[in-house]
Amino acid sequence: MDALHELFSLRGHIGLVTGASSGLGVECAKALAIGGADVVIAARRGDRLEAVAAEIRTAYGVRVLPIAADITVEADVDRIISSSVAEMGEIDILVNNAGIAPTGRAERISRQVWDSAIALNLTAPMFLSQKIAARLIERGKPGRIINMTSVLGQRASAVYRLSPYTATKAAISNLTRQLAVEWAAYKINVNAISPGWIPTEATEAGMAKPGNREKMEALTPLGRLGLPEEVRGAVIFLASKAGDYVTGSILSVDGGYTAW
Ligand SMILES: NC(=O)c1ccc[n+]([C@@H]2O[C@H](COP(=O)([O-])OP(=O)(O)OC[C@H]3O[C@@H](n4cnc5c(N)ncnc54)[C@H](OP(=O)(O)O)[C@@H]3O)[C@@H](O)[C@H]2O)c1
Repeated sequence: MDALHELFSLRGHIGLVTGASSGLGVECAKALAIGGADVVIAARRGDRLEAVAAEIRTAYGVRVLPIAADITVEADVDRIISSSVAEMGEIDILVNNAGIAPTGRAERISRQVWDSAIALNLTAPMFLSQKIAARLIERGKPGRIINMTSVLGQRASAVYRLSPYTATKAAISNLTRQLAVEWAAYKINVNAISPGWIPTEATEAGMAKPGNREKMEALTPLGRLGLPEEVRGAVIFLASKAGDYVTGSILSVDGGYTAW
């Protein structure tokens, strides 16, 4: 393995990225495409997915299948998998990226908000992983699962009141380790990416509030917020041959936020 492309090529693979209609999910999908994988992208906003699909096809020349779906609905998850298999082939790279970060004081947060965060940030990735891993195991094929956790899976937020978010991100981080251990025998590597503060649709409004951005920058050793495209390298590494011996890891892409 002396050539760069042998280490990092994703040619011949089919990736599924959830939450790829905006933000980091778009970058995860681009990362897989840069590596040469064909990509299935899923989220609820079909028009946004169509635009992302067109951009990726043009820029990277891979096949892209956009599927409008709510991944908290089991029938939608089954449809994502059956359509992918029918139109693209078996998914062997799953990026569980979709997530929400509802804010609100812990003493007032509603059961409905709490449940919605559990459903999207924890239950959906668990059962998507289960369904895809089961198909890989049945066929004796290896695979990769990459969960999008957060620095706030390791610690509380110094900026926002985020109890459902910090709880679900801590859970997905440790679920990553458990699935890695259980599926190692099947050569299904399970890892997570842990981003720090990165401006996206989900975070921009909060970052625009007086003082927040400065606080985030001050808490980050590199002294700046991340760029969405700065998650790409981690995705390619964890999905490719370069990551063969990496499983159960939480890879920080956080400008050093968790280093101190
Ligand atoms: N940005 C950061 O600073 C940061 C830091 C650490 C971790 N993260 C994590 O990175 C991931 C992406 O966040 P982001 O910042 O890129 O936010 P974003 O731009 O709001 O993206 C969230 C994505 O999830 C999708 N989504 C929401 N509900 C869904 C559902 N029920 N079914 C399917 N898709 C759904 C949204 O698309 P639709 O609305 O079209 O469904 C959207 O594409 C999240 O897991 C987040 O926790 C972000």
